[in-house]
Amino acid sequence: MIEPHGGTLINRIADPAEKQRLLGMIGTLPEIQVSSRVLSDLELIATGALSPLEGFVNRDDYYSILNTMRLTDGTVWTLPITLPVSRKISSTLNTGDKIVLKGKDGTPYAVLDLEEKFEYDKEAEALAIYKTSDRNHPGVRSLFEQPPIYLAGKVTLLNQPPVDFPGSYGTPAQLRELFKENGWNKIAAFQTRNPIHRAHEYLQKTALEMVEGLLIHPLVGETKKDDIPADLRMESYEAILKHYYPKDRVHLSVFPAAMRYAGPREAVFHALVRKNYGCTHFIVGRDHAGVGDYYGTYEAQEIFNCFSPKEIGIEILKFEHAFYCRTCKSMATSKTCPHQREDHIHLSGTKVREMLRKGENPPEEFSRKEVVHVLVKGMKDG
Ligand code: ADX
Repeated sequence: MIEPHGGTLINRIADPAEKQRLLGMIGTLPEIQVSSRVLSDLELIATGALSPLEGFVNRDDYYSILNTMRLTDGTVWTLPITLPVSRKISSTLNTGDKIVLKGKDGTPYAVLDLEEKFEYDKEAEALAIYKTSDRNHPGVRSLFEQPPIYLAGKVTLLNQPPVDFPGSYGTPAQLRELFKENGWNKIAAFQTRNPIHRAHEYLQKTALEMVEGLLIHPLVGETKKDDIPADLRMESYEAILKHYYPKDRVHLSVFPAAMRYAGPREAVFHALVRKNYGCTHFIVGRDHAGVGDYYGTYEAQEIFNCFSPKEIGIEILKFEHAFYCRTCKSMATSKTCPHQREDHIHLSGTKVREMLRKGENPPEEFSRKEVVHVLVKGMKDG
């Protein structure tokens, strides 16, 4: 089984005795309410998906990530995982405190051992992580909307945050176990925030020719408003898997992270996290985790050249822009198709969303009819 990032699969879930002890302290400890994004990060840290992180990053690691794409110990890490609070809340907290992190529903989800609080520069973070400080970028916008102080420290999970798709959920430890049971040694992971269209299917099935198992791992945490909602996407994945994928070689499981739209840096993050889930290969196509025109078509592939394959540890399967060719009558890329651009139907999640919004049915070359059916029905009902 592939080694987790940093060598150890982190587990920050309180065992029953620890949970009892910490729950007994509630009432005497300061409490803060956290956003749904922080809650999803908490869950990812606690289950080891973000190994080697054991909590929210401190100032030194934060600047190291921004400036060098590494933690202070040299481990590759490209996105800061942070817990922002207001100045007013920060002024009531002291380093060394245990702080209860509550959800909007009042449930105590975790305890933070406050190691440090620090003010940060939003402009600098935006430029380092998103390569722009344009507020129209969804990641930049949420950064500028969040409060100005970061709290750092290890977390201990007391209660599992609500799982949206419990039937299709697996922690890194659970997926590692499942891959072992299936006898899969080589597993390719596919990240997506869109319904599966023909280009996705082409990438996945090309990968499946080279590996033993495919993990379809759609991100179901916070996404921008005009992305297709996760429940509709899940319904469409189930519909297409039933009809067109070999059951014994494909596993669908939700990835409960928030989308950052950080393009290249998020591609590295997505890859490292999938290594923690036990995958050996990770698919990166065109404009991975991109939005608008902020990143070059292959920037999310090129960023991997900044690191040695050993430090990344998961093999990156890089794919060119895939399209449907009317003359080949199949999916292809410029590597495999000799025909003119006019013969090509270019596909993207953005295009599918635009057509659906206009009440148009994406054609069969674009999306399988089973997927179109789910999406059209869902958009009408929604
Ligand atoms: S993402 O934000 O999660 O990356 P999306 O769901 O659109 O968005 O893409 C999932 C994966 O498929 C990414 O690796 C992306 O690069 C790849 N991809 C999407 N469309 C194409 C395409 N037409 N050709 C090649 N790769 C693609």
